[in-house]
Amino acid sequence: MHFLLVVLLLPAIKCEIIPSNSTCSIESLEKCPYNPDADLTTPQIARRHGYPAETHFVTTDDGYILGIHRIPGPKTGVKGGQPVFLQHGLLSSSADWVTEGNNSLAFMLADAGYDVWMGNARGNTYSKAHVNLSVNSAQFWNFSWHEMGIHDLPAALYYVSNTTNKPGEIIYIGHSMGTTMFFVCSSIKPQVVKNVKVMVALAPVAYMTHVKSPIRYLSPFVNDIEWLAKYLGVNQFLPNNKIMKFLSYDCDLLKIDETICKDVIFSLFGFDKDEFNMALLPTVLNHDPAGTSTKTVLHFAQEIKNEGKFQQYDYGPEGNMVKYGRLTPPEYKLLNIKAKIYIIYAQNDWLASYIDVIRVSHNLTNNIGVYKVPLDAFNHVDFLFGKHAAQLVYAPLMKVIQNYTDEVDDL
Ligand SMILES: *[C@@H]1O[C@H](CO)[C@@H](O)[C@H](O)[C@H]1NC(C)=O
Ligand SMILES: *[C@@H]1O[C@H](CO)[C@@H](O)[C@H](O)[C@H]1NC(C)=O
Ligand SMILES: *[C@@H]1O[C@H](CO)[C@@H](O)[C@H](O)[C@H]1NC(C)=O
Ligand SMILES: *[C@@H]1O[C@H](CO)[C@@H](O)[C@H](O)[C@H]1NC(C)=O
Ligand SMILES: *[C@@H]1O[C@H](CO)[C@@H](O)[C@H](O)[C@H]1NC(C)=O
Ligand SMILES: *[C@@H]1O[C@H](CO)[C@@H](O)[C@H](O)[C@H]1NC(C)=O
Ligand SMILES: *[C@@H]1O[C@H](CO)[C@@H](O)[C@H](O)[C@H]1NC(C)=O
Repeated sequence: MHFLLVVLLLPAIKCEIIPSNSTCSIESLEKCPYNPDADLTTPQIARRHGYPAETHFVTTDDGYILGIHRIPGPKTGVKGGQPVFLQHGLLSSSADWVTEGNNSLAFMLADAGYDVWMGNARGNTYSKAHVNLSVNSAQFWNFSWHEMGIHDLPAALYYVSNTTNKPGEIIYIGHSMGTTMFFVCSSIKPQVVKNVKVMVALAPVAYMTHVKSPIRYLSPFVNDIEWLAKYLGVNQFLPNNKIMKFLSYDCDLLKIDETICKDVIFSLFGFDKDEFNMALLPTVLNHDPAGTSTKTVLHFAQEIKNEGKFQQYDYGPEGNMVKYGRLTPPEYKLLNIKAKIYIIYAQNDWLASYIDVIRVSHNLTNNIGVYKVPLDAFNHVDFLFGKHAAQLVYAPLMKVIQNYTDEVDDL
């Protein structure tokens, strides 16, 4: 369904970059120019824009095979820069960091001489493999961001620090779930995070009390297996048409084009008409949603009804006794996190509500700064696809990480 939609919509939205009265419109799609990035993989996109690119496969300690992407340096081919690790958010992939043309964060970092690594969480387009399990099995999809935090991140971060031979030098930048994974990893496995020199949290998600996203409508159903199977898919998160209609209620309210609301990314994270770069829409729709488990989405939905707790997956009292030896799931101890963390958040974020973000910042022992994007309409996906993302987020971000960047002679 999603694929069809993408094909239909593909060129429709390029209109903005065509001068005024061009005939490119939703009625005459064939007149619209085509952005090849829509149909390319992350490394292919990087190469198309002139950058060197590599794919690495990393196996986690529980057998998932992750495709990790790398842009080892600027177009000139110079190598040896400090490693930066970018971790995408919910239902996304490494493509998030390269699909914005010259305003892509990965390209800006590579231009500045960094060795850019991009993680892909288990279950997404690039990480749908396991040494033993079939991707069609229920066991394969039996994970949430908890497992991404305690298995995927350690494997990827050790791999990067070993491959680059720069232990303790990684600059970690996460968006959305990419921050949740980091909080999980660093609160449970602090030794892993010793490889991280500084972490920049874009739209961080831990406490979820004030979430505006329609993901909150799912929270009453998280333990209703039959309901979930019928509407969301038991294994991979594949919401059916009925639930999508239900979720997109807020889109109707906000009078956002129906075609946009049909992409679960926008129905869950919101859509900001003025700030979203429409020219990117075909590309975004083709890359996202990139796949995850239903359990991942549900774990977020659980956090909403948890009365402000950031805790492990709730299996219900009996299941929790089996899994954790207690009736309620253990909380992640943010106070355990020793990593230096810089937070960038936005006022109109449906998922990372600013109230929750401020609470997180108070619980981090080594919070080195909190920066609010100076544009009130800025939303969760605008960190990636906003017209002003480069100016309002990436430029200040580059300044922050400069303080943690070693001088390299040959750059
Ligand atoms: C607008 O349309 C007119 C008449 O069809 C045409 O002559 C003109 O070149 C078009 N302008 C642009 C910018 O496409
Ligand atoms: C995969 O299967 C082999 C053989 O049964 C087993 O030894 C190994 O522990 C399994 N690995 C994982 C990660 O499940
Ligand atoms: C990308 O290119 C556009 C148009 O040439 C330019 O306005 C913009 O500043 C560039 N962005 C960066 C980050 O260099
Ligand atoms: C998923 O993991 C939970 C907790 O470890 C376990 O109780 C459950 O049986 C697993 N389900 C499947 C389908 O593997
Ligand atoms: C990286 O190096 C550490 C320490 O030498 C080792 O324990 C770990 O297995 C290595 N991991 C990878 C993914 O290469
Ligand atoms: C957050 O901070 C408060 C007070 O500083 C403390 O009581 C609470 O336990 C902390 N929560 C976590 C999860 O670290
Ligand atoms: C970089 O470090 C200097 C010295 O500690 C500090 O004054 C400055 O504010 C830092 N810059 C950023 C962008 O955090």
